[in-house]
Amino acid sequence: MALRTIRQIGDPILEKKAKDVTQMTDKIRNLIEDMLDTMYEANGVGLAAPQVGMLKRICVIDISEERNEPHVFINPRIVEKTGEQTGMEGCLSVPGKQGQVTRPQYVKVMAYDEELKPFEFEGTDLMARAICHEFDHLDGHLYVELAEDGLVDVEPYDGEEDEED
Ligand code: NI
Repeated sequence: MALRTIRQIGDPILEKKAKDVTQMTDKIRNLIEDMLDTMYEANGVGLAAPQVGMLKRICVIDISEERNEPHVFINPRIVEKTGEQTGMEGCLSVPGKQGQVTRPQYVKVMAYDEELKPFEFEGTDLMARAICHEFDHLDGHLYVELAEDGLVDVEPYDGEEDEED
């Protein structure tokens, strides 16, 4: 298990566009493993590679209570979205804050797995929200740009608080 440092808002790397993964290498495999470890350690529901300082189009997401349903998305794109949901969102790169964001209720995704094989994935509710949030990171966008009523203070994660993504 290897943890990576989560970059915080203000770090210019969080505003850069990440590049496609064109080849699966040990370095990329290690990055994905470390991203999962880092996400679980921070009790987040998702993490994007730029958040650990790597400008690669990779996201990991796990919205399960049991923390045992990891999803890995490489070079992902949203190909369909419908509906709308409005709710509070947080980000491991913006600790101690939340903001209200409107996202699609449903998204369909095309992405590549760890063998660089394409797959299709559908998400609703929190999964749709997490997908939109994490994919935005790959284009250098943070949810704070979308927060409808500014940000509110919340308790930072101290080991057993609510989840952030
Ligand atoms: Ni985030």
